[in-house]
Amino acid sequence: MTFSPRVFSGIKPSGDLHLGNYLGAIRRFVPLQDTHETIYCVVDMHAITVWQDPEDLKRWTYEIAAAYIAAGVDPKRSIIFNQSQVMEHAELSWIFNCVARMGWMARMTQFKDKAGENSEQVSLGLFAYPSLMAADILLYKATGVPVGEDQKQHLELTRDIAKKFNHDFKKQIKALGHKGDFFPITETLATGPAMRVKSLKDGSKKMSKSDASDLSTIYMMDDADLIAKKIKRATTDADALPSEAAGLAGRLEAENLVGIYAALSGQSVDEVLGQFGGQGWGVFKPALADLAVEKLAPIATEMKRLVADRGEMDKILRDGAERARAIAQPIMADVRNIVGFVR
Ligand code: TYM
Repeated sequence: MTFSPRVFSGIKPSGDLHLGNYLGAIRRFVPLQDTHETIYCVVDMHAITVWQDPEDLKRWTYEIAAAYIAAGVDPKRSIIFNQSQVMEHAELSWIFNCVARMGWMARMTQFKDKAGENSEQVSLGLFAYPSLMAADILLYKATGVPVGEDQKQHLELTRDIAKKFNHDFKKQIKALGHKGDFFPITETLATGPAMRVKSLKDGSKKMSKSDASDLSTIYMMDDADLIAKKIKRATTDADALPSEAAGLAGRLEAENLVGIYAALSGQSVDEVLGQFGGQGWGVFKPALADLAVEKLAPIATEMKRLVADRGEMDKILRDGAERARAIAQPIMADVRNIVGFVR
């Protein structure tokens, strides 16, 4: 069975969008529109695996959809919608809960990080989170998923679920007239610089929506002055920049800032170092601040304009959900049939 090239990705409305979300995911959604059918989701059902204030959840849902569009995702060419509008996500995730094994979920590092010492007190949804993520992707038989590095393990699990389903129901899949696998073995699209953007204050930690230090994270809605201030105050070592990538080994903060520059400018790390090798931070940081403002400010302006028009945003999300359902429903009808549900 050959699967047509289709991309799915999603972002959780659980905090303000930051530079890591932009470089690891959103920026890369745009060119994929030229080569793939593209589906970009706001995964509100994932967000509620930890407590979300309902008003914040709505605000962030609009903000993420607006960020997709402001960054260059075209709501006519791509499907943009929020997950809870397409109930098949929940339905397929239940079936996957019955395919996946407890041990697979318990091994997930993101679950362990989030649950911490407190694993008896977190929601059941947080434990089953990767199963819903597999459902997001496989409901559309997506062949590729652009994400940052932190999602790689979840995508391995998605492949494990697809393989087990294809194997467990081999006979029924064949009886349905399918040649080969029912679900594709989805590829993780996570190459290039800045696939793991680090905190500006600590190069061993990833930049995240929930960092205690205000200066560690650049938010997509930050204004120009704040972006420049955060970059100027970023932690660095005292050495000059090397002239090639190998010279960044063991220099976590330097590697992070150079990676951000490369991703924002569309260059390789070696190209950036070809330009800045031998220079100190006094030269590099202002150049990075200018570049970040140049790239992020127009997106923030457009995001603000879009979120102010909720009527228009609702229309886009409803239209997206309808088009998503049109793909999902026949696939889900096959799944029910394969599993043996009577209709
Ligand atoms: P979320 O909402 O945590 O993050 C959204 C996207 O941003 C990327 N990202 C980063 N990339 C580089 N550096 C960082 N510091 C950084 N922080 C976040 C993430 O890798 C992600 O691509 N489980 C997912 C949401 C999800 C999903 C899906 C993704 C649900 N279903 C199906 C793809 C396909 C998540 O929590 O992402």
